[in-house]
Amino acid sequence: MNHFLDIHQTDPADLRQIIDNAAAMKAARQGRPRGAADEDQPLKDHMVALIFEKPSTRTRVSFDVGVRQMGGQTMVLSGADMQLGHGETIADTARVLSRYVDMIMIRTFEEQTLLDMAEHATVPVINGLTNRTHPCQIMADIQTFEEHRGPIKGRKVVWSGDGNNVFASFAHAAKQFDFDLVFTGPEPLDPEAALDGLYTVERNPQKAVEGADLVVTDTWVSMHDPQSARERRHNQLRGYQVNDALMALAKPDALFMHCLPAHRDDEATSSVMDGPHSVIFDEAENRLHAQKAVMRWCLGA
Ligand code: CP
Ligand code: NVA
Repeated sequence: MNHFLDIHQTDPADLRQIIDNAAAMKAARQGRPRGAADEDQPLKDHMVALIFEKPSTRTRVSFDVGVRQMGGQTMVLSGADMQLGHGETIADTARVLSRYVDMIMIRTFEEQTLLDMAEHATVPVINGLTNRTHPCQIMADIQTFEEHRGPIKGRKVVWSGDGNNVFASFAHAAKQFDFDLVFTGPEPLDPEAALDGLYTVERNPQKAVEGADLVVTDTWVSMHDPQSARERRHNQLRGYQVNDALMALAKPDALFMHCLPAHRDDEATSSVMDGPHSVIFDEAENRLHAQKAVMRWCLGA
């Protein structure tokens, strides 16, 4: 069994296998109803716990649908409703859940919660987002890029905005999948210094996007950020908005991605989000396929 905790902790050959499986599983389902079972039913008789300590639309629904398509069953748990939210330790929670379910996906605040869960669970644990990383999202993003443009190896990816958790997983992916990643954003919102990823920094967004194959952004205020930071962040990040003028400086066939949910016309304009470069809804769909491949890898199924 394997945990899927972070991209930089997962072997590049395994990551490649996951992406290729995701694409194959997606192709095998073309034209079939969403509720139709996958023919091979790799998660038959498996029970999966999906724990959310933060809100979610895509992660929650895509994991739930994915498990069901593969023949398994899910239980979606809110952290606040569990004893976990009332003082029971992560370690005890992990040991108990491991007696009931075959796999645990958790979206949480502190990375340590995820790590403690993985240390004490005897079943695979999957990172569904922490304050520091969001690896499932970036697996879907790699799948999406390659679906539209072929291998991501050697391509130029530009992140414009906050150096947040989603950026961190992109930086991990740049190392593992061997693409060039440029961060453009204001210094106070730089990625954390200890990040074990690969990227360069270019403060000027117009310069940064020159020759980009992919331009990516995310919300300016993440779920773990204090709402009081909103106004300051808007002032810091305004110049990093992804709009038509910025996209025009990237390669003519550059793609645009956003993990969603978006604050339209803040970090990216609706004209970009709904424009010809945008693949945001393919990204959202591929959460389903990429995570199904992640779950199979975790279980060796
Ligand atoms: N992109 C993403 O993880 O979305 P949710 O917060 O809706 O799960
Ligand atoms: N950076 C965002 C991603 C949401 C999917 C957050 O953590 O809120």
